Amino acid sequence: QDAATQDTPALGLHIAITAGPTREPLDPVRYLSNHSSGKMGFALAAAAAELGARVSLISGPVSLPTPDGVERIDVETALQMHEASRRLAGDCDIFIGCAAVADYRAEAPAEHKIKKVESEDALTLRLVKNPDIIADIANERDAAGGRPFVVGFAAETRDLEAYARDKLTRKRLDMIVANDVSSAGLGFGADDNAALLLWRDGEGEGGESLPPQPKTQLARAVIERALGCLSVRPV
Ligand code: CTP
Ligand code: CA
Repeated sequence: QDAATQDTPALGLHIAITAGPTREPLDPVRYLSNHSSGKMGFALAAAAAELGARVSLISGPVSLPTPDGVERIDVETALQMHEASRRLAGDCDIFIGCAAVADYRAEAPAEHKIKKVESEDALTLRLVKNPDIIADIANERDAAGGRPFVVGFAAETRDLEAYARDKLTRKRLDMIVANDVSSAGLGFGADDNAALLLWRDGEGEGGESLPPQPKTQLARAVIERALGCLSVRPV
């Protein structure tokens, strides 16, 4: 390896990353969403670009600037994120699902603004499950027998390792970044985060614990670990 590839170990690789929340319309003026800031996903995109990768960042609605050298694809709903992700996944070497995808969407968003009913004290909304984007990408990868290396995230408030291992296996991921979001100042919306990295059976037995640190630094560590797992590198 020459000096250039030591500084840019991701040169020649295409990395796709989902980030931020999704927004699921209820009617033309209202939606269901969550508090994801997009900071971790954007930090991953910046780190991947700095390490030399071509980066596609599929982002839900966030108020963050696009990192230098990153191609950004803006989406709103989980269905739009699913479509954009599937379109890109076949062409990428690493796919990272960092978005906080809404698990459910309104079965039938109202065409007009939902009016308050004076005579009723309750309103029932019927929700249907959104597709699991990262699981679909890992399944399609397995069916095709090739790329990409798939990295997921798990934000949990209890039983971190057990829930993360379950997601790793169930979604057929190669690696998962597990965050304990019950500790103050870490995770959702914060600038810092800590993580437990886990790999699919046989690799990195027991995982690796990354202490609390700025998301920018944690992002670089995550990208470097993923790069280290790619056995075949393009010339
Ligand atoms: N994810 C996804 N599509 C979804 C839901 C989740 O791609 N519809 C991805 C996330 O981007 C993340 C991983 O799956 O990489 C785990 O997300 P999480 O919400 O923790 O998993 P769920 O299976 O939805 O489980 P939970 O019931 O804990 O929300
Ligand atoms: Ca979820």
